Amino acid sequence: MLVMVGLPARGKTHTAQKLCRYLSWLGYESRVFNVGERRRASLGAGQSHEFFDPNNPDGLLARRKLALSVLDELLDWLHGEGRRVGIYDATNSTSYRRQLVRRRCEAAHCEVQFVEIVVSDEAVVEANVRETKLSSPDYVGVDADHAAHDFRARIAHYESVYESLREEDGSFVRLIDRGRSVEMNGIYGYLPARIVFFLINAQTTTRQIWLTRHGESEFNLAGLIGGDSSLSPRGLQYASSLASHVRRRFADDSSLEIWTSTLRRTVETAAPLNRATLRWRVLDEIDAGICDSLSYQQIAETMPREFEARAQDKLRYRYPRGESYRDVIQRLDRVIVELERYRTPVLVIAHQAVLRALYSYFMDMPRDDCPHVSIPLHTVIELTPKAYGCVEERVALEPLVSSGSSS
Ligand code: F6P
Repeated sequence: MLVMVGLPARGKTHTAQKLCRYLSWLGYESRVFNVGERRRASLGAGQSHEFFDPNNPDGLLARRKLALSVLDELLDWLHGEGRRVGIYDATNSTSYRRQLVRRRCEAAHCEVQFVEIVVSDEAVVEANVRETKLSSPDYVGVDADHAAHDFRARIAHYESVYESLREEDGSFVRLIDRGRSVEMNGIYGYLPARIVFFLINAQTTTRQIWLTRHGESEFNLAGLIGGDSSLSPRGLQYASSLASHVRRRFADDSSLEIWTSTLRRTVETAAPLNRATLRWRVLDEIDAGICDSLSYQQIAETMPREFEARAQDKLRYRYPRGESYRDVIQRLDRVIVELERYRTPVLVIAHQAVLRALYSYFMDMPRDDCPHVSIPLHTVIELTPKAYGCVEERVALEPLVSSGSSS
């Protein structure tokens, strides 16, 4: 269980949701349990700051009850089949509260790792309050200045009793000022270390990530999968339309990064851009193993069992001597961490299966849907990740008339 720790308006919920999306995408079934939401559902929204005053015994009791009932629900959920990570999203701002949480978790045989978010820059806190808190159901119909004043008073109540994590708290990571500095204690094992690595790299900057498949290839035209063919004449045309589109949108902005796979069709698609590109082997198309360079029809005729098995479970099916979508997701982990770390726009020119995997991460899709996402040729998918969710625009640069099987 991951236990968030931090004063209000530090970005705990945003971090919790981002972690949940990342872990779920990697295949660790995860869920966020938010105590604020439970308070609003149980008591109705709109408690004023006095409710959060630690010297208000009724408020204190009500808050503790709510927090523990959400914790119990999380522990119940975690015991279900296949569940891996529960994220407990609350302030958990005193040692006393954390001890209570830890004891319950230990009794339920659940490992605990704390994630503390510290923001020392008052301007960042103020921006968080204005951008997210004032539009919360707690302040519906309340004048913005009055709401901001009340929320600051709420923060002050928490500050008066706040205790940062200490060694006695056990396993934790503390992120200070959006990763400017990171402190940790007792982090052992693969998953806890992966979580820390992700948190260190995850940025909150809003910038665009563009995804596009290569232009139509000779193999697309012939209806064959995999291979390393060059672009068809129509594919070459797309490469130049893409270059003009990028020039129109980014003009002389030299911060745009361009990534391709190592396969000819993506490298040729990037060529008219005339910019430095990074070639990643991990962006190469799904390895179709013994089915590489065949058409779907040939696979169905010569290896009907393989064809059927893939149709039954496209996410888990692994081509003999090749890869499954799950394998592709695993190898793209590195790319996701890099995309999270970059503050500049990135254009990724890759392949159908690879882009499905990247897209499903940004759009927070159920894993089983990933292999079925529509990623047509000759279309730029322009994503703008925001604090909560991701805005998508699709720009088709040519009429989508297929001149072969390009699915
Ligand atoms: O057909 C183009 C292609 O990129 C193939 O090289 C690849 O095997 C396939 O798409 C992946 O899509 P699907 O998983 O739907 O077969």
